[in-house]
Amino acid sequence: MRKTAFLLASLISSTLSTCFDPSPAFPVPQWHNGAKDKHLASAFNSLRTKLDTFISNPKYSAASFSIELTSQTSSLFSHFHTAPERNATRPGTPKVDGDSLYRIASITKTFTTLGLLYQAEAGTLNLDDPVSDYIPELTGQIPFHDITLRALASQLSGIPRDFAQSDILLEIPDPTFIGLPPADKKNLIRCDEYADYDPPCNATDLVKWLNHHAPLFAPNAESTYSNLNFELLGLVLERVTNMTYEEYMQTSIFTPLKMSLTTISTPNDTHAVLPVGDNYWDVDEGIQNPTGAIYSSTTDMSTYLRYILTHYNALATGINWFQPASFATGLGSFYGMPWEIFRTDRILPESRRPVTFVTKSGGLPGYVSRVSLMPEYGLGVTILVACNEHCGEVLDRLQEVVTVEVVRAAEESVWEGLGVGYDGVYEAVDRELNSSIELVSSSGTGIVMNSFVSNGTDVLAEVVPKFWADPRKSWRLQLVPTLLYKDEKEQAGEIWRILAMYERKEGKGRDVWDDFCITDIDTAKYAGLPVNEVVFWHEEGVMELPAWKVTMKQSTEPKNDERFVVQQ
Ligand SMILES: *[C@@H]1O[C@H](CO)[C@@H](O)[C@H](O)[C@H]1NC(C)=O
Ligand SMILES: *[C@@H]1O[C@H](CO)[C@@H](O)[C@H](O)[C@H]1NC(C)=O
Ligand SMILES: *[C@@H]1O[C@H](CO)[C@@H](O)[C@H](O)[C@H]1NC(C)=O
Ligand SMILES: *[C@@H]1O[C@H](CO)[C@@H](O)[C@H](O)[C@H]1NC(C)=O
Ligand SMILES: *[C@@H]1O[C@H](CO)[C@@H](O)[C@H](O)[C@H]1NC(C)=O
Ligand SMILES: *[C@@H]1O[C@H](CO)[C@@H](O)[C@H](O)[C@H]1NC(C)=O
Repeated sequence: MRKTAFLLASLISSTLSTCFDPSPAFPVPQWHNGAKDKHLASAFNSLRTKLDTFISNPKYSAASFSIELTSQTSSLFSHFHTAPERNATRPGTPKVDGDSLYRIASITKTFTTLGLLYQAEAGTLNLDDPVSDYIPELTGQIPFHDITLRALASQLSGIPRDFAQSDILLEIPDPTFIGLPPADKKNLIRCDEYADYDPPCNATDLVKWLNHHAPLFAPNAESTYSNLNFELLGLVLERVTNMTYEEYMQTSIFTPLKMSLTTISTPNDTHAVLPVGDNYWDVDEGIQNPTGAIYSSTTDMSTYLRYILTHYNALATGINWFQPASFATGLGSFYGMPWEIFRTDRILPESRRPVTFVTKSGGLPGYVSRVSLMPEYGLGVTILVACNEHCGEVLDRLQEVVTVEVVRAAEESVWEGLGVGYDGVYEAVDRELNSSIELVSSSGTGIVMNSFVSNGTDVLAEVVPKFWADPRKSWRLQLVPTLLYKDEKEQAGEIWRILAMYERKEGKGRDVWDDFCITDIDTAKYAGLPVNEVVFWHEEGVMELPAWKVTMKQSTEPKNDERFVVQQ
């Protein structure tokens, strides 16, 4: 009795946090049917109508856009819109398509960071080296000897945001009209915005400015958006590669990935999407190129996203490029390197399983854009907009409509596929044994172990409440993919773990700490083997539970249609 009590206590302490929904809940879908997937195809039809209806509002008559969704292997959906209101003397492309070029603005930061990861992997720099090792001229009040390259790329350096952009003095003819005191430009730097964009700023201007300004935060204390971080990284890249930033981007990324239309310098107007009114199409950003210069198309960006979706955990030793590096202000908002990561439980209303979007936005006069990678679904979407007014409004709506519709359709498709692949009753291959498992999947609950009999014992009733789940709460046993295989080479023997998941409490009974959920997947062992390991050998149609020394064959469809049985 004492022994059981001790075991129970130790197990429960290891599962103290009560998690509701694991994410990911399934292996990354491959979308072999491409755009013909039933649920996606129907979402795409609905999207085309919604997008066309939205953009037909006369207040958006100067907006053009390109949208493309890609899987890890191929483009699944694209949609384009050409603004009815264009500049008659300089119209740019007459019809927007997949090759149409926009300024992608700050999405450029992801290219600069990719270049940095390549150099880290090549050993020409170390992400944890201080910036002052590479740019020793930085000698002012900002502690560059304490700021690492990693901190720059992660928006954690604490340095100011801009040095030649966004000055109100330059945007308003008479600032006293909005209550600002009179000011003149006499003591300001003489480049970029402060010099009518001629000349662009250079490294001397940047270093001089930084040497006369103070930090916003101590290094690594708080993340905050800064363009200067990437201007410095561009300079570091030029110094370690002995190439111009433009040459380095071309030879290390655009050419190898075959992004044939993507450039740093201004392309001719053949493919240009040129909004009416003031815009940055022709502006040479100089030293600011690494923070926002790139011109690209949705076709090229999809190529780039496919590369990222398939390489994000293999770019440099010790780096998973999609992991967050710090909290941002929002509860589900994080900075990565330099990704802007969003996790929401509002996109899947049924399960409320969190979905992660690894994004980067961009904005320059005349252009707004965003890429969003959805690693759990193996999908990535690019939205490029050229606009005059209401730019943010247009991007926000396109982002909302496209991501919500696509994720919900992808989710339906995933669970339909999992139902076919995993659901059913599995019975011991050894007919002498009374051992069986029933799996039932649904988007609300994941793949649930509805029954588990081992050698005549009802495991859910006898074993789980003692050793596996907190018996004080309503639980279910859910299968969680590890995304690893027993045979990695053949991608056979898919390894999953069984976890106790708890019913989400709502309303009055919900404690503040109910939301605390710390991942802890490697729970009890039996005779040295993980008791919750499950291996699927799909070719053979069997499921193996190594600790239970049993192999079970998928025999029939689920016995009943009860989708979710909460064990009390
Ligand atoms: C930057 O531009 C200024 C003139 O605008 C020039 O004096 C200086 O040498 C330039 N620096 C570099 C690194 O090109
Ligand atoms: C850097 O490139 C320049 C011009 O291509 C060349 O003259 C110089 O020798 C190179 N320096 C190093 C260290 O490779
Ligand atoms: C414009 O650029 C395209 C490549 O994007 C090229 O094929 C074309 O010849 C160029 N046109 C002119 C007039 O330079
Ligand atoms: C149209 O393009 C011409 C030539 O680039 C430019 O001078 C003019 O300002 C533009 N007009 C508008 C309304 O954008
Ligand atoms: C099944 O249970 C019996 C006792 O009921 C035991 O003798 C036997 O070793 C068990 N076999 C397996 C494979 O677990
Ligand atoms: C197998 O074991 C379960 C659970 O103890 C029991 O309900 C069932 O009757 C047994 N089946 C056979 C064929 O013995």
